[in-house]
Amino acid sequence: MEFKYIQKSPLYKALSKLGKRIYLPDGIFYWSRRAKKEAEIIGTIGSAFAIEKDFIDGGSDEWVPCYLKDIKNYANIDIKQIVPYASIGGLPDTREIWKEWIIRKSPYDEKTEEKEIMRLKKYITTPIITSGVTNGIYLTCSIFLNPGETIISPNKRWGNYDNIIVKHLGAKIKSFDFFKDNKINLQGLKDAILEVSKVQEKIVIIINFPNNPTGYTPTFDEAKELIDLIREMYISLKKPIIVMVDDAYESYVYNNDNINVSMFYDLHQLDEDIIPIKLDGITKELLMYGGRIGFVTIGLKPNWTKNDDESEILKKEIENKLEGMNRSTVSNCNHFYQAITQKMFIENGMNQIITDRDKVKNLLKERYEEINSELEKIDNPNITIDPNSGGFFLFVNLNRDKIKATEFADHLLKKYKVGVIPLEKVNDNINGIRIAYCSIDKLQIPELISRISSALKDF
Ligand SMILES: Cc1ncc(COP(=O)(O)O)c(C=O)c1O
Repeated sequence: MEFKYIQKSPLYKALSKLGKRIYLPDGIFYWSRRAKKEAEIIGTIGSAFAIEKDFIDGGSDEWVPCYLKDIKNYANIDIKQIVPYASIGGLPDTREIWKEWIIRKSPYDEKTEEKEIMRLKKYITTPIITSGVTNGIYLTCSIFLNPGETIISPNKRWGNYDNIIVKHLGAKIKSFDFFKDNKINLQGLKDAILEVSKVQEKIVIIINFPNNPTGYTPTFDEAKELIDLIREMYISLKKPIIVMVDDAYESYVYNNDNINVSMFYDLHQLDEDIIPIKLDGITKELLMYGGRIGFVTIGLKPNWTKNDDESEILKKEIENKLEGMNRSTVSNCNHFYQAITQKMFIENGMNQIITDRDKVKNLLKERYEEINSELEKIDNPNITIDPNSGGFFLFVNLNRDKIKATEFADHLLKKYKVGVIPLEKVNDNINGIRIAYCSIDKLQIPELISRISSALKDF
């Protein structure tokens, strides 16, 4: 958008630096709008959709957003659970329940790994409730990044990081190529850390597995190497390393070779000042995108305090900072959805939630297998597929000398009626398309890939 008229109006002079800088990039919305109008197969939408009867017993033949069946029972909940303000940091019971959920999602066995579980229970803050994971990312970045400071992120990342960090906060992103030889590019991460360490007394990193836009999650070996690298960097630099762990798609992993738990846990167990911050939410995890409830949980280290009393006080101090951020931005978050979340956990229990969600996860897994196996059949030197094993998307790289991603997406839409999101960032070494298989029925996938294959031959 050009803002021609704002610039001519007296408003412009009055705008703050942020007011001048901020805008809503059109990219994803532009392609999604067009796909809705022009496409027969739509792979732009980043939420899981399916035929209702495929994931709800007795469901209809309608194509609907995937949901957990009990949500329908809560339309009539007590008025006292809807109308009042929620507390600034979120409803206390919902926060406590989410803390238990975080412990439940951990990789530790209650019987054999008591020590690890105890550390988790004692040394993480009680999650603060935010307006979705997006708001959690914003709050966290706000309290760690001054304008001009740098956070490290792989080049293939959720585009909204750039909006929050660069456009909104005026901070910088040090990017590195995510993959090398089809594995995570740890040398790239290491170089980025070393470069930032020359000018900053702290290292701030944001990671996101399963990743948007690629669907990548580390293999067990890669995860270990990543942890080892961060530890090695801390030991040599002696600067605190903040790792924001964006777990928006936590648990949606479809391959046994890859980690199915958040990196938060392993980072938290390290004794060094490597400080993980868990950013998760009901959005995808409990399939309530519009509920706008996210959580920020900070991992502390036992050696920061002398005893339990001190560490409880420390937790309260940190929570107060986050509450200060809430109060000064959104004030407090949607009460109704906090209440629903609480009810779901209390009335159904975690096991039932997982069982219900598994129906959706299994559908996504089938699509993941189908789309990868169909893509493998394409014999075309101009594409490569990024390693993927979970989440809602995968990413097809296009040979930039032959095919420009936006031109390809336009052609695909006009001639083959297929909608995808092109990502073309020359400076960041990105040229390809993101396919949101979360919103494409398995039966349509062979046709989708066959149309993509035909479109490739036109270039
Ligand atoms: C990587 C990533 N993080 C965070 C979010 C935002 O989640 P929420 O809708 O809870 O704000 C998304 C949503 O698309 C995402 O892809």
